[in-house]
Amino acid sequence: MSDAARTPVRPAEPAAFDVETMRREFPVLARRVHGHPLAYLDNGASSQAPRRVIEAVDDYARSHHANVHRGVHTLSEEATARYEGARDRVARWLNAASRTEIVFTRGTTEAVNLVAQSYARPQLRAGDEVLITHLEHHANIVPWQMVCEQTGAKLVVAPIDERGELDPDAVEALMGPRTRVFACAHVSNALGTVLPVERLVASARARGIATLVDGAQAVPHGAVDVRALGCDFYAFSGHKMYAPTGIGALYGRESMLERMPPWQGGGDMILTVSFERTTYNALPYKFEAGTPNIVGAVGLGAAIDFLGSIDLRGAHAHEAALLEHAHAALAPIPGLRLIGTARRKLGLVSFVVDGVHPHDLGTVLDQDGIAIRTGHHCAMPVMDFFGIPATARASFAFYNTFDEIDRLAVSVERARRLFGGDVG
Ligand code: ALA
Repeated sequence: MSDAARTPVRPAEPAAFDVETMRREFPVLARRVHGHPLAYLDNGASSQAPRRVIEAVDDYARSHHANVHRGVHTLSEEATARYEGARDRVARWLNAASRTEIVFTRGTTEAVNLVAQSYARPQLRAGDEVLITHLEHHANIVPWQMVCEQTGAKLVVAPIDERGELDPDAVEALMGPRTRVFACAHVSNALGTVLPVERLVASARARGIATLVDGAQAVPHGAVDVRALGCDFYAFSGHKMYAPTGIGALYGRESMLERMPPWQGGGDMILTVSFERTTYNALPYKFEAGTPNIVGAVGLGAAIDFLGSIDLRGAHAHEAALLEHAHAALAPIPGLRLIGTARRKLGLVSFVVDGVHPHDLGTVLDQDGIAIRTGHHCAMPVMDFFGIPATARASFAFYNTFDEIDRLAVSVERARRLFGGDVG
């Protein structure tokens, strides 16, 4: 093992944030994996749930479950109050102007598909353009490709550089007279790059271009204010911010949502149905066909309550320190290359090691109790840009520790030796 990996420079834990107390809120963190304490560094894929979320979900299932918006009986009213209470929490969390601007979805992917099909499809004409960036993950590429195929519009992709950064001037140069939609990530899931969304959204709006920001990797790491950002749509997933899977939300500016037709048809999105004609429900129900993920929304509401109850500034400062420590701990390992060295990064570090396939690296790390994600991270064009099939990605939450990152560095070094790296 290199000396650098053995003794990385370790910043002091920020005094304001007590990570050990925080860890006790997350029961799974007490687990052992293959005889080692779990080091869960795969938060970019899905984060763990705190006790408060687990208990809210359990309480709902034990005592309050019924369908929402349908019954006059007590349980239905209780379920409805919890479901709609979660919507209020999301609206406040994002600083939306109104609760009617929050549509519950299965997650980011469904939210982007909804906008592509309900907002973009009816108005795109052959020759129109949808502008995205080279940093997008598949959920913010494929729905736009599909709507382009359906309408004859063209998908335009803004380039990135070797750091994994966008040049905002280059993006703006691609905002032309036929650009109808600009969709971009807030934070890249593959590289951690923070995109200059404030500037790009403002530029797009000034040109009359609708804007969607994919906030899946941003919402867990910082406050988001959709009104300050000025975007028309903002999408995120609950399960990356300590809530259950299968729930997320689309924020949509009310004036945009109002003019969009429903996407899926069924219960809850209707006012009246006859075989001749259906009339649609008001916002946001127009976009929530069928029985929704009520228990997921309850969990999401509890996650927001939890985040509102902790020292969030301290938590985010701790995450930033973890990222800095990860760079310092990993960079000196021989043959290790960081993929994505943007000046503004959040939440994760992606890397490759000479002679070790990322999947083998992930397997060795798992044997040491360390969970990371390996692969293309649902962002194959980013991998293509760097000429690699995959990376190893360690992604952080505020319950991670410097010790876990030191273990990561030691384990990566072990894998390097095992798979034939130099033994120096
Ligand atoms: N988009 C998720 C990730 O980055 C699944 O891992």
